Amino acid sequence: MYSKEEQKKAAAWQAAMEVKDNMVLGLGTGSTVYYLIEKLSQRIRGGLNVHVTATSLETEALARRLDIPLISLADARTIHLAIDGVDSIDPDFYSIKGSGGALFREKIIAAKALRVIWIMDKSKLVHSLSGRVLPVEVPAFGVPYVEEQVKNAGFVPKLRVKDGNIFITDNGNPILDLTGGVDMDYPAAAARLKAMTGILETGLFEDICEKIIVGTENGTEEHFHN
Ligand code: A5P
Repeated sequence: MYSKEEQKKAAAWQAAMEVKDNMVLGLGTGSTVYYLIEKLSQRIRGGLNVHVTATSLETEALARRLDIPLISLADARTIHLAIDGVDSIDPDFYSIKGSGGALFREKIIAAKALRVIWIMDKSKLVHSLSGRVLPVEVPAFGVPYVEEQVKNAGFVPKLRVKDGNIFITDNGNPILDLTGGVDMDYPAAAARLKAMTGILETGLFEDICEKIIVGTENGTEEHFHN
């Protein structure tokens, strides 16, 4: 029986085998991607030639420490593959990301990548996103206005706090974690939020990932987007 950490590692190691010579790889953020970075570094020491563009400063620092060749997004003409983690994903691949605060950079890299794969332990696979918090990134100046607007639209906003301080993303912005009703239509809500002045990006990802690799109690499973 694989533990949760073993499930993450199994999914990450399997995804690492999707990385081929001469690729530019978009590298996600989080505890599952951590195992991917470790494995990648091992493959690079064994001769794999790859360049990586990172979705967060945390991933960038880890990649640098493990001698993984980094390039900036500006220098990455093509991103052949992006591999990232996810917070929750439903059977139609509607997903929420951003519990680590990297949602904006993750979405940019996923949007640019030719292929996107997500890796996860089994707990991330859910029947429905219902009740899940939807994070949005909002520049600090806009927070009071956006809070007012989202309340008027029926959401309950909560300014994200970490270790007693307002959480700030790599882009220098706070995050509002939004709760809607149990029957919230996430794609419609995300579209409405995205159209609001002051909201930079939402944590809803749709139609962006072609395949997920899920660590289970017995090994791994792959699921493909319909
Ligand atoms: C970062 O903001 C998130 O989108 C992560 O990619 C996501 O939370 C997955 O992280 P874990 O692999 O740590 O669960």
